[in-house]
Amino acid sequence: MTDQYDILRKIARGEAISDSKFHRRLVDEFGLEVTIGDSDLRLETPLELLDPDRLMKLIKPAAQSQLSRLDIHWTLDSTNRYVLDLATSAEFHGYACLAERQTSGRGRRGRNWVSPFGKNIYLSMGWSLPADQPLDGLSLAIGTCVARAIASVSQVKVNLKWPNDVLLNNGKAGGILVEIAGGSANTRRLVIGVGINLSLSSSDAGSIDQPWSVVENVSRNELVAALVTEISTGLDDFSQLGFEPFRGAWQALDAHEGQEVSIVSNDFAQTGISLGINELGNLMLETSEGVKVFNAGEVSLRSASR
Ligand code: BTN
Repeated sequence: MTDQYDILRKIARGEAISDSKFHRRLVDEFGLEVTIGDSDLRLETPLELLDPDRLMKLIKPAAQSQLSRLDIHWTLDSTNRYVLDLATSAEFHGYACLAERQTSGRGRRGRNWVSPFGKNIYLSMGWSLPADQPLDGLSLAIGTCVARAIASVSQVKVNLKWPNDVLLNNGKAGGILVEIAGGSANTRRLVIGVGINLSLSSSDAGSIDQPWSVVENVSRNELVAALVTEISTGLDDFSQLGFEPFRGAWQALDAHEGQEVSIVSNDFAQTGISLGINELGNLMLETSEGVKVFNAGEVSLRSASR
């Protein structure tokens, strides 16, 4: 019997399916922008779905040895939420969770993360670090891993916006959301969520309230494998050496050093010149009242020109 996932695979390949009520409901549910023919439906641009066998071949052995498991879900509310719920599972550490779409993707500061089907990357990894390991700079370190992964599978060179936005042509192409899943006397469990935009239609992007961009012409499977490889090996380095080995790479990609920026949170804003990051990954801002240092926490940076 053909199930809905076989049909979704067929649609993703760009094959026509008959124009039935069931198929229309399916394409609506998954937000697929199909062209309607005389008696069939089809996608103009095929989608590259994630393929677990291909991914396992592409992920480098050093990273494979760090993974407890890798799952690809057709649909989840949020890959971060899913991995947070596995906090007490024996497979939590090294669990890589991917979804073809998210219905309630989470962004920083309570924002929604737009997550259409089959186009972008939604990845969360469960990781345990020693409880006494300082977390300063962790999300910045992940940003350098993401930039390295993108550069390894494409010609694209992204920049990083403090603390952890991935920028391309001044628009946000990716974001990182680190959440704490709990812990014990010895370990702290973290969920590292990464979203990368590869393709957004105008209707996908309609609800994005900031400049956005996409990393084009890249294979989803190759980029996921590169991300899992870089993030797993990066987390291993971070657990042993902290932020220091990542600092130079982050500084080299800093989109705003030397520029006038504003640091904003829900209840305050501070403008100044960015002096870049210190050894902990905190942002140093030259203000009219002297140099102030900001911790990533709940603040964001805005270009003063916007
Ligand atoms: C940001 O706002 O910059 C962070 C965005 C993080 C989005 C990713 S997509 C995979 C993972 N699951 C989520 O719900 N969010 C993160």
